[in-house]
Amino acid sequence: MQSVRKGIITVAGLGTRFLPATKAMPKEMLPVLDKPVLQYIVEEMVESGIKEIIFVTSSQKRPIEDHFDRDRDFEIFLKSKGKLNRLQPLIDLCEKVRFFYTRQSEPLGNGHAMMCAREFVGDEPFAFSDGDSIIDGETPVVKQLVKVFNKKQASVIGVQRIEDKKAMMKYGNVYGTPVRGESRTYRVSEFIEKPAMSKVSPHGLIVGGMRYVFTKDIWAHLEKQREGRDGEIWLADAANSLAKKKPFFAYEYDGIYFDTGDKLALLKTTLHFAMKDNEMADEIKKFVCG
Ligand code: UTP
Repeated sequence: MQSVRKGIITVAGLGTRFLPATKAMPKEMLPVLDKPVLQYIVEEMVESGIKEIIFVTSSQKRPIEDHFDRDRDFEIFLKSKGKLNRLQPLIDLCEKVRFFYTRQSEPLGNGHAMMCAREFVGDEPFAFSDGDSIIDGETPVVKQLVKVFNKKQASVIGVQRIEDKKAMMKYGNVYGTPVRGESRTYRVSEFIEKPAMSKVSPHGLIVGGMRYVFTKDIWAHLEKQREGRDGEIWLADAANSLAKKKPFFAYEYDGIYFDTGDKLALLKTTLHFAMKDNEMADEIKKFVCG
């Protein structure tokens, strides 16, 4: 039985929806309170038992390498000022995992980006996340998926279930049948991106926040994957092709998904985390309600 030790996080997109903020600053480094978005994702992976993470980056994304590296001089300075505690959680995080970097030289889609990390992963199963979604859950979502993987030894995607059929048309929909005796688990038959209202998933399953555990089987499908929507190579298309050939499961994770890919979404995400802090919550209520 193989265990999931490696993770891929793709962070090579252009982040045009945040321009000009993202001209020199990766959108994955924009803060949600006192942590960049990407740190939430790394924490999720580390708490899920991932020991090695590879970031698929681009020439614009150097601050990511600096963030997840030690800076001894700065640490000594902070210590002398009695402020090292402010950095300590990040130092502790970096000690629990090894980081690797590879580049996607052109943003040709998330499937193409994942392919850039193929050699790093080899034939091992691995976790995958995009770089701009946070899922706030009691149990880290990757950990929930790894649990399903350990039982099934097959690829797993994290899904959400929603009732609103109109809203479902805006997302990737997941189709399949519930696995008997295993709550929240479905055997996937197909993925369809933004289907028409008459074709939305009957179980209400959507891809909210990209979280997967893949077996090595995904690589052959990704290698064959042609350009899809907007001329990009999409991971969902390769996953769809894999689900038609091999067992592929969807797990309705326990957690709240937050997109951070545009201004309003990032603001809502920040408010969610701020409202979890009693002191900040009172201030925000006063500020908003007067
Ligand atoms: P998005 O689809 O949000 O695209 O990427 P984007 O380019 O980052 O942002 P906009 O649309 O121009 O504002 C989702 C995640 O996938 C990564 C991004 O870095 C982000 O973390 N990604 C996307 C890649 O790594 N490579 C790609 O070719 C596309």
